[in-house]
Amino acid sequence: MARKKIALIGAGNIGGELANLAVMKQLGDVVLFDIPQKEDFAKGKALDLEQASTQSGADARVIGTSNWEDCAGADVIIITAGVPRKPGQSRDDLVGINLPIIRNVADNAKKHCPDAFVIVISNPLDAMVYEFKRRTGFPAEKVVGMAGVLDSARFSLFLAREAGVSVKDVRAMVLGGHGDDMVPLLSYTTVSGVEISRFISAEKLESIVNRTRTGGGEIVKLMGTSAYYAPAASAISMAEAYLNDEKRLLPSAAYLTGQYGYTDIYLGVPAIIGAGGVEQIVELPLTEGEKAALAKSAASVQSVVDVVKASAE
Ligand code: APR
Repeated sequence: MARKKIALIGAGNIGGELANLAVMKQLGDVVLFDIPQKEDFAKGKALDLEQASTQSGADARVIGTSNWEDCAGADVIIITAGVPRKPGQSRDDLVGINLPIIRNVADNAKKHCPDAFVIVISNPLDAMVYEFKRRTGFPAEKVVGMAGVLDSARFSLFLAREAGVSVKDVRAMVLGGHGDDMVPLLSYTTVSGVEISRFISAEKLESIVNRTRTGGGEIVKLMGTSAYYAPAASAISMAEAYLNDEKRLLPSAAYLTGQYGYTDIYLGVPAIIGAGGVEQIVELPLTEGEKAALAKSAASVQSVVDVVKASAE
């Protein structure tokens, strides 16, 4: 059987780490795609990664390219094309620059990779993944946004460190948009099934929730650009769930058709990802406070989606 093909659209910081993880985990052959001005950069990165693969013994091929035909027939596409945040910027500030980029990527993906499972990472995430789906007309189950796995990862790490337990045992769930009003759900957060409030005080939990909400910004401030190791690791978990039909329950930006009371919007919700893509959206009972927080988050996502829709061609 031929190896799977993973096309990474954007060969920058996240794209490079995605390629590294895909090779290390032997998910398939990797195409690192970027714009013509960055083609040599993509080729150089690909060569460096292939040389690194000799040490792990992975046989996957990695190529760098600016030719969409090299992406043809990809099983999975992961999109990081666009610009990242700089200190002081919100994700929403990127919409003007990243919207034409996602449209260009959508048109090419539709032409060359119509059967791929697509994971969007470019920000503002919820609006970019919405526009990708709208523009391509791809089925909703084949287009997801990566945000919740990353937000939950940040939440889990802070909780594990504070509780003094292994990161392996923390199960955390974050709903809503990928913005500072995301909704970390304490009621569904446990240490191997034991509720988190047994380990961490209410005040400390509140400060961890706040740190999670601004977790991306914390890194932008420190590095001058946005995070890449954890975003790449999170998207690879989603790609693996699809490629290996793992049926994992992962918080994902998924297209809603009435779930949680929302329609025609991408929002972070628990989703089961397997060979069918988003196979199921799991609806959790929420407290009144959680519902209100989700409504606030959805409203801010909708305001960016409205900007995108207003300029739709
Ligand atoms: N097609 C393909 N690649 C493109 C296109 C395009 N039309 N336009 C820009 N790119 C490429 C850039 O040339 C660059 O190499 O996307 C790459 C983005 O890489 P970085 O600038 O290193 O950004 P990165 O940190 O990887 O973040 C990418 O993910 O998390 C989000 O907010 C982040 O929107 C940003 C995206």
